[in-house]
Amino acid sequence: MCSLFHKKDIEECLHLNTCNQKLKRSLGPIGLIIMGIGAIVGAGIFIVTGVASVTSGPALILSFVIAGMACGLTALCYAEMASMITVAGGIYTYTHVTMGEIWAWMIGWTGILQYIIAASAVAIGWSSYTSGFFSSMGFSLPEIITSSPLNGSGLINLPALLIVALLTGILVLGAKESAKVNAVIVIIKLAVIGLFIVIGAQFINPVNYHPFAPNGLAGVLQGAAMVFFAYVGFDTVASAAEETKNPQKALPIGIIGSLAVCSLLYIIVTAIITGMVPYTTFEGNAAPVQLALQSVGINWATAVVTVGAIAGLTTVILVSMFVVPRLLFAMSRDQLLPKRLTKVHPNFKSPITSIILVGVISSLISAFLPLEGIFELVNISALTAFIFLALSVIILRKQRPDIKRKFKCPLVPAIPIISIIACLGLITQLKLLTIEVFGAWLLAGLTFYFIFRRYKKYATNKDSNLLKKEIHTVTKEISAK
Ligand code: ALA
Repeated sequence: MCSLFHKKDIEECLHLNTCNQKLKRSLGPIGLIIMGIGAIVGAGIFIVTGVASVTSGPALILSFVIAGMACGLTALCYAEMASMITVAGGIYTYTHVTMGEIWAWMIGWTGILQYIIAASAVAIGWSSYTSGFFSSMGFSLPEIITSSPLNGSGLINLPALLIVALLTGILVLGAKESAKVNAVIVIIKLAVIGLFIVIGAQFINPVNYHPFAPNGLAGVLQGAAMVFFAYVGFDTVASAAEETKNPQKALPIGIIGSLAVCSLLYIIVTAIITGMVPYTTFEGNAAPVQLALQSVGINWATAVVTVGAIAGLTTVILVSMFVVPRLLFAMSRDQLLPKRLTKVHPNFKSPITSIILVGVISSLISAFLPLEGIFELVNISALTAFIFLALSVIILRKQRPDIKRKFKCPLVPAIPIISIIACLGLITQLKLLTIEVFGAWLLAGLTFYFIFRRYKKYATNKDSNLLKKEIHTVTKEISAK
């Protein structure tokens, strides 16, 4: 029973921090902000704004402000933990240190769901943008091969399946996203968004802002829970703590700075999108920026925006699919998952088994499920992880006040507690079905955990019995001689 709550040794983690200085500390605050924008901006702005505006109406702007503020509080907690414990696993590791194995397992398990679903949801959006691009070139792909069977006339979302399969192949070859490549993609993304802002602003019709909040405060809050997805990714900034110069100063600037830039962009883009066309136009559409431009007849810009969006979405899928094998690796190293998940390809040196597993699951989800429901699963997983993050900050301040914190979250425990309340508040705004599916996922996780523990115990006993038997035989042979 005791080992269920067995905690990972923090001294071991802190020791790893100091030993693991092989990585070059090359990132400054600006580098971190660019990295953050690269990881954050993607499907949220190019896809979710459309779906969520149907819920919030033009008041989606307020939804973005609320979700951004909740993320800001979490970012402060993240900065404290990330500048102190810089080993792989993120919130999974912090929970392992502060709360013990079973809680860490659950957070790892939800993290797996979060990133697999993020990759799948973004792949569905990628398919929408790609199909739109083909149709703007006069070549329409039939709906039967571009839509989920749960969407009426669809059978399979082939483009989504293909992009996931292609990126899985690239990941097997060993995906190395250099800061340079990331910066180039960020520039493309920002240029495309800038172009949209400049063009779109000219087509704002104030009539479209009425009614501003058609579903009242409830709609605004529900919208906030949906667009929370757009902010997911700032944890990537925290994970670069080991490669950051003067992390105690640069990390908070990087995390808060990238969040601030993205919040501002999201609010401006939302104001423009909902001003260009009536919010009801976005019903069931997964390419709102493209649709808004097409609606006002700017077809040349549609093509440019589409190419930029497709590039941006591609990296979000790639990074999401890159994260899961790392998490599986950390959990497997802690003996919480089968060892074979750490299997590395002999030539490419990539964790081949987990990459293929993640690729197969993501491609099936993106081929057969609709977009609407599934990105909310990313939100509930991330919100749950953020609650555990805030708890970790409070617990570790109490348990180990002696450890030097390079960055200290202000007003502890007030800020972590407000962060927990905000995350819980956003969870309550998600659809009941999302909460039920997430609950089922947690139950499945617990079941898997206990089955795996039994198996591990059995395997360990079997090994030690075999060993005893072997020692016995050898001893007998020696005494016979
Ligand atoms: N924030 C990321 C996106 O919007 C997940 O694509």
